[in-house]
Amino acid sequence: MTQITLTEHNSIAHLRINRPDKLNALDAAMMDTLAMRCREIEHSTARVVILSGEGRAFCAGGDIEAWSGNTPAAFADHWVRQGHVAFDALARLLQPVIAVLDGHTLGGGLELAACADLRIGEDHIKIGQPESALGIIPGWSGTQRAARRFGTQAVRRMALMGEVFTAHEALILGIIDHVVPSGTAMAKAETMAQRILARSPQATRLAKMMINAAEGEETGRIIEAMAGQIAAGSKDLTEGLSAFRAKRSPDFTKEGS
Ligand code: COA
Repeated sequence: MTQITLTEHNSIAHLRINRPDKLNALDAAMMDTLAMRCREIEHSTARVVILSGEGRAFCAGGDIEAWSGNTPAAFADHWVRQGHVAFDALARLLQPVIAVLDGHTLGGGLELAACADLRIGEDHIKIGQPESALGIIPGWSGTQRAARRFGTQAVRRMALMGEVFTAHEALILGIIDHVVPSGTAMAKAETMAQRILARSPQATRLAKMMINAAEGEETGRIIEAMAGQIAAGSKDLTEGLSAFRAKRSPDFTKEGS
């Protein structure tokens, strides 16, 4: 539980990976905690999330010792699935997420960063997908969400050739949004968070949902949520519920809204 911490201050949630001795490598328990923390954020008063890692890495990927002990079936049914559940929850938060990449961002670390809406990289960091050198594939959406968000060609270069990008290369490729000097990414994230906080909460939330829908990120839920919000505020609903409770037929007006 303490390996994924969550604190909130002035409408900003700080979600932090806290396993510095293993460069914040993610194991199964951490993925479960991450999913739980995302539910906590959904129900919090936070309007922006800053995602970061403790120590000299943002995240060096899935815990090699943890996943390599799985049978092929367990790898698919549990390891990959748990990762998707957690990362989907993060990518689909209603609040914008800003990732602070102040160290190694590799493998599952890149997939984690891909869940954020905005990414800041410090100028010394390295970004890549080393999995194929280990004989495994990027399994927490590194070929899916990452390809949608960064473009397939950047992902090909990382996943097929094992290219490890500098922050400046990642900026040119659109993997990160800003390069900042070492030690300043958190301050930059705070500034960006304040900029978001100064804008309309409702418009920001809706814009994030629409952008996620454009990327195919839970499009079905988003369409149903938007239609549901319209229906839930309609006169038709008031009349329909009244009629149900009075055990009579509903008398809907033409306007309905
Ligand atoms: N899984 C499990 N443990 C990891 C890890 C991972 N993905 N990445 C780093 N660690 C551990 C190391 O085993 C080491 O543990 P130890 O001190 O108990 O031996 C500790 O974190 C520090 O890593 P170390 O390799 O000593 O640091 P480094 O600065 O020499 O190298 C990296 C940094 C990131 C280049 C190197 O750790 C690395 O290649 N990690 C694996 C990256 C990867 O392949 N990720 C995808 C996994 S699917």
